[in-house]
Amino acid sequence: FEVSWDAAAADKGGWSSFMAKEVSEEPEAVANTVLGRVQDGQIVIPELDGLDGLFQGVSRVIVLACGTAYYAGLVGKYAIEQWARIPVDVELAHEFRYRDPIVGPETLVVSISQSGETMDTLMAVKEAARLGAKTLSICNTQGATIPRESDAIVYTHAGPEVAVASTKAFVAQITALYLLALHVGRVRGALSAEVAGAAIAELEALPEKIRWILENEQERIEQLSRWMSDTRSVLFLGRHVGYPIALEGALKLKELSYIHAEGFAAGELKHGPIALIEPGQPVFVMVPSPRQGATLHAKVISNIEEIRARGARVIAVAEEGDAAVLPFADEVLRVPLAAPLFEPILAVVPLHIFAMGLATAKGLDVDQPRNLAKSVTVE
Ligand code: G6P
Repeated sequence: FEVSWDAAAADKGGWSSFMAKEVSEEPEAVANTVLGRVQDGQIVIPELDGLDGLFQGVSRVIVLACGTAYYAGLVGKYAIEQWARIPVDVELAHEFRYRDPIVGPETLVVSISQSGETMDTLMAVKEAARLGAKTLSICNTQGATIPRESDAIVYTHAGPEVAVASTKAFVAQITALYLLALHVGRVRGALSAEVAGAAIAELEALPEKIRWILENEQERIEQLSRWMSDTRSVLFLGRHVGYPIALEGALKLKELSYIHAEGFAAGELKHGPIALIEPGQPVFVMVPSPRQGATLHAKVISNIEEIRARGARVIAVAEEGDAAVLPFADEVLRVPLAAPLFEPILAVVPLHIFAMGLATAKGLDVDQPRNLAKSVTVE
């Protein structure tokens, strides 16, 4: 009798891939990033002790990152502007360095990197520091180069991420950006205790809501991805915080499945992308909660009608109980109710599951997609 032992399989803890394991860990990635940072109903980030003066003096934030981390930054912009009332630009790190950026001592540069080793991000942070900016690193890897080169660090606690395509680190990055936004908002006196309290309650409720998606929707999403395994192109539409999620959904799908996938701002539809719609074209639509404002919700529903009329196959990602999508969507993937800013952390989960499911259905290696590296340490 011989027990066969596969070290890699052991590390996967029984999961079929690291990615499957890491998606299943998205609830903990959020929970552990919040853990210890809420005390007596307030955000407390010990790593940022002594930096109140810096946050009070900042007139502008520039977020720098690459890949999935960049999309986390795009989501973070909404929270920092809303809660801390500081203007935010989000930029691809490799673009930042080569355009003579206007940066000075009142600029806070926030870099986001799972590995902390992405060369383009590192070089952009160094350039920002050279120009006099203050630098803060959001990073998942203790002691990595980017945090070491930065004035301040807020670690994400997603745990080690092995699969090349980033998943649990992404939800942890948004969580960390929200913690930062709430902290800076309080320090600057821009945030009422009531708004902060409600946001903290939303943050703390997220892990359970992500778990709900994994438990109740994962199987159905995987089934959908199997049905769609011959699909050649998938479009993603989103608006407001749903827009970066559409971009992330498209990136994951092209990374893992090698098919054409593109994300668009839903409002941009009639300025070009609608020309791509032909009968049978699958389109994921991130439907904002009706509570986000009736107008925004109605506009996205009207986008769905427009593409549906041209034959698109609509897969709506919508909150539980949103009946308005039902007449127009071919499939509805449900996410639990959350305040508008917190929706992206839920809405991205079905997209991660879908990309992984489609690649698996095509027999591809979801952990090591062709031509890609986990950490790009060359420029
Ligand atoms: C690579 C990885 C992506 C990741 C990006 C940024 O492209 O394949 O998953 O989002 O690098 O990596 P970082 O470690 O800086 O977050």
